[in-house]
Amino acid sequence: MPTNDSRTLHLSIDSLNMRIVGVILATLLAQQASAQLADVDWWKTTTFYQVYPRSFKDSNANGIGDLEGITLKLDHFVDIGIGGVWLSPVFKSPMKDFGYDVSDFREIDPIFGTMADFEELAQGCKDRGLKLVLDFVPNHSSDEHVWFNKSIAREDPYTDYYTWRDPKGINETSGEPIPPNNWLSVFGGSAWEYNEEREQFYLHQFVAGQPDLNYRNPLVVTEMEDILRFWMDKGADGFRLDAIPHLMEDQTFPDEPPSNDPEFTPDQWGSLSHIYTADLPELYPIIYGFRKVVDEKQEELGRQMVMMVEAYTSLENTMKYYGEGDVKGAHFPFNFEFITNVNNETTASELKEIIDRWQNALPSGAWSNWVIGNHDRTRVASRFGRDFSIAAITMGQLLPGTAITYNGEEINMEDTWISWADTVDPQGCQAGPEFYEKFSRDPVRTPYQWDDSVYAGFTIPDSEKPWLPVNGNYEELNLAAQKQEENSPYAIYKKLTAMRKDMNAVKSGQLGTSTVGENIFVFTRYLQSADEKSVLVVVNLAENEVNADLTGVPTLRSGAMITYHVGVNSSYTAGQELSPSSVNVPARGSLVFLYTNAASTTVLASLLLVFSVILSLLH
Ligand SMILES: *[C@@H]1O[C@H](CO)[C@@H](O)[C@H](O)[C@H]1NC(C)=O
Ligand SMILES: *[C@@H]1O[C@H](CO)[C@@H](O)[C@H](O)[C@H]1NC(C)=O
Ligand SMILES: *[C@@H]1O[C@H](CO)[C@@H](O)[C@H](O)[C@H]1NC(C)=O
Ligand SMILES: *[C@@H]1O[C@H](CO)[C@@H](O)[C@H](O)[C@H]1NC(C)=O
Ligand SMILES: *[C@@H]1O[C@H](CO)[C@@H](O)[C@H](O)[C@H]1NC(C)=O
Repeated sequence: MPTNDSRTLHLSIDSLNMRIVGVILATLLAQQASAQLADVDWWKTTTFYQVYPRSFKDSNANGIGDLEGITLKLDHFVDIGIGGVWLSPVFKSPMKDFGYDVSDFREIDPIFGTMADFEELAQGCKDRGLKLVLDFVPNHSSDEHVWFNKSIAREDPYTDYYTWRDPKGINETSGEPIPPNNWLSVFGGSAWEYNEEREQFYLHQFVAGQPDLNYRNPLVVTEMEDILRFWMDKGADGFRLDAIPHLMEDQTFPDEPPSNDPEFTPDQWGSLSHIYTADLPELYPIIYGFRKVVDEKQEELGRQMVMMVEAYTSLENTMKYYGEGDVKGAHFPFNFEFITNVNNETTASELKEIIDRWQNALPSGAWSNWVIGNHDRTRVASRFGRDFSIAAITMGQLLPGTAITYNGEEINMEDTWISWADTVDPQGCQAGPEFYEKFSRDPVRTPYQWDDSVYAGFTIPDSEKPWLPVNGNYEELNLAAQKQEENSPYAIYKKLTAMRKDMNAVKSGQLGTSTVGENIFVFTRYLQSADEKSVLVVVNLAENEVNADLTGVPTLRSGAMITYHVGVNSSYTAGQELSPSSVNVPARGSLVFLYTNAASTTVLASLLLVFSVILSLLH
């Protein structure tokens, strides 16, 4: 009996050993696989940087930025450590909505340069290991697109490329045709424009010069998919899809009910509740179809592509863009939580809730992302002030997922006040002199501030006047000055992008969020390994410095933390060792620490030790 027992014991130990070997092998293989897949994941670990081409760099002194200007500044992207360059539209356009009205989806607008300039830019990116992402505006074309002319003339196959409807009747007072329903343009006024030649109205959810494409027509879908293929062949590494929720409308065209929001006048878009023109369930399969095209091209060209989606909609609808079941959608829809839900009044517990809610809403396996600002919304430094903007950018870079930066955020550029006379954004112009400041997006689109020379180095001194005025603060706030300054927004930004590249905790660490007292929000990106550092970010939402005791933070089991970056106005220096029991966090500021999950790794190490002792004793 005893012999038997010991044999059984040996057998089970052998099978245990085999299992351990198996686990080690599987781990090694997994590491091997993720090493091979490094480029596959570029879109996860990188920071995307949105370039607004009109305002980035003007190479030909006409006061408008261009592709050659971007090519001239490619080393800036490398310098600040971003890996994906996303261009706002550069396609041929009458510029009624500054490029978001495309008249030829396969041409570069002469304002921005030529196809050769595009190819040079794409090559320049490739040479530097940068990925190039294009804005794709699938929703509408310009009224100067040849498709629209042919559609007016009812020339097949273009007859139903756009959404045409008969007038509801004729206005007896004015003799004018009456629009099919009450739908309003995002920019104000009726969404319907009458065309004399075709004697029908066409739908335009933006300006009249942007007729909506008809996605219920499969020919339109195929046409747009071909355009995606065209640009990937030209060197694009993916797309950002613009204004997606508006892609389709209810095909029975009912009136929309009033929103009863007193903030809006009856001809403003916000005065209606957009139940028939936004978020229709039929639009998601169109997006999944685009993804299929992108994946097929990726396979063909052997280059990992990315597809990001812009959709201002509910959290539930946003998540549908990831796909459904096995059907893939976007790599990610933009996470606008920092733009739409975080403001100056947000408390620490609300911030935790906002972040947790997004992370918890992600479908299984979905990749997160954080957008801090863009060309449509008040700049982060103006939204939150110059101090909290740094905290917001720090969170955007260190929370799990892809980070997205709007050009100028890395130097904390601010909005520029623009007079009515200088206003050019259609959303501002259509609102009129009384309301334009509320609607115009010009303030966030002014030229990039490179240095303290005339026009902030955006163009040359004897250039034509820039298309939008340069911010008056450029002599003090510019890239060149910040390069000389320790702890400048630029210096902090670079440290953050470096962390994304270098630290596994930022690439794949678990997220832990908590609050300390009323005003401190804390998150950790933690790893169990004793060899690698975990990251701790501390954010103060109060207007005054707060002394925080972090010893209760659940995922911080370590005795000591090393200061990594001290944000602005901190008395600490980088590399300083601190005890978590007393940390001074500057007003509206953030601190970043590195720590080792010492306690847990010690437990693990001792467990391993005990285990191997038992094994050797048994043998
Ligand atoms: C469309 O028609 C208008 C007016 O007939 C003309 O000016 C324009 O050049 C045409 N555009 C295209 C792309 O054919
Ligand atoms: C008809 O035209 C008049 C004058 O332009 C306008 O006040 C009225 O609102 C219009 N009615 C309809 C039903 O469009
Ligand atoms: C997209 O098209 C829809 C309707 O097709 C329209 O409502 C929306 O405004 C358009 N958005 C953009 C950015 O073109
Ligand atoms: C938030 O606070 C900052 C600084 O205190 C201020 O500059 C900014 O205008 C405020 N933002 C809003 C939307 O009120
Ligand atoms: C740093 O503190 C000073 C003095 O309290 C303040 O004036 C300044 O705005 C702060 N800087 C930032 C970027 O918050």
